[in-house]
Amino acid sequence: MDAHIILPMYTDASPGRRAEPAAVRTVEGMHISSTDLGLAARVQQLTKTYGTGEGGVTALDAVTVGVRRGEFTAIMGPSGSGKSTLMHIMAGLDAPTSGRAWIGDTEITGLSDLELTILRRRRVGFVFQAFNLVPTLDAIGNILLPFDLDGRRPTALERARVDGLVETLGLGARLRHRPHQLSGGQQQRVAIARALATAPDLVFADEPTGNLDSRSGREVLGLLQTASRTHGQSIAMVTHDPIAASHADRVIFLGDGRITADKPRQSAEEISAFMLAAELGAAGIEASEVSA
Ligand SMILES: Nc1ncnc2c1ncn2[C@@H]1O[C@H](COP(=O)(O)OP(=O)(O)O)[C@@H](O)[C@H]1O
Ligand SMILES: [Mg+2]
Repeated sequence: MDAHIILPMYTDASPGRRAEPAAVRTVEGMHISSTDLGLAARVQQLTKTYGTGEGGVTALDAVTVGVRRGEFTAIMGPSGSGKSTLMHIMAGLDAPTSGRAWIGDTEITGLSDLELTILRRRRVGFVFQAFNLVPTLDAIGNILLPFDLDGRRPTALERARVDGLVETLGLGARLRHRPHQLSGGQQQRVAIARALATAPDLVFADEPTGNLDSRSGREVLGLLQTASRTHGQSIAMVTHDPIAASHADRVIFLGDGRITADKPRQSAEEISAFMLAAELGAAGIEASEVSA
């Protein structure tokens, strides 16, 4: 099969990134500043535009934000507000038009594709909105792919963690099925197991409950919560579901490529009310005009 099936997460040539000669520096050997301790990832003055002139779209407009270490952060906003673009750039899967991005203390803007690939493989898990499973591999092959691509087998401890994920996500009876033999929700759960399999420091999840029924959705949110609370992993989750966002420690709202609010844990009701007010505000309507 061709290149689009190969995970941009793990391969050296990410779409949208300039190909560069193979790098010789290793991730460990790079200069690391200690100025950003406490943040697992951050971006500064990040702008992303697609196209130019009349047809140009500004997906992100000078966004500065950090994901705190060990915290579960939700990123919310209407469709087209720039959520996926922000996550892809923060994870080093796409390059910004301008601005800078760091994973931990390592600046990723300017790294070669190979350096980025190594950094992502070891430290970042990504649940893609479109799953990006490898169609030729069965479910367990997809889940174990991060180990294969890192050229190693899971340790006994890691294998036990994978078994635990498979069980929690209800995938036990589907491990030998290939993606086309799985429902959307099952594929999404395989993608989640793959992102968590290596217990990366930093997990990005783009609408990870988007295709799940409410019970599986709760399992996934519970897994992400446990990942941050018990294992100290830093989680950034895009969602447009206020109930999903209410599981997070912090909720960041995006609108039109800008951060419109950054709040501590909110109830689903508070989140819904805020989103409604923001949508009405964008449409020039006062909230009081529509309240019953
Ligand atoms: N590859 C692309 N080419 C052109 N426009 C794009 C591309 N990707 C995203 N966009 C545009 O950028 C904006 C933000 O998109 P996205 O980050 O996917 O939003 P969200 O995830 O919040 O729905 C949208 O207007 C979208 O149409
Ligand atoms: Mg999106």
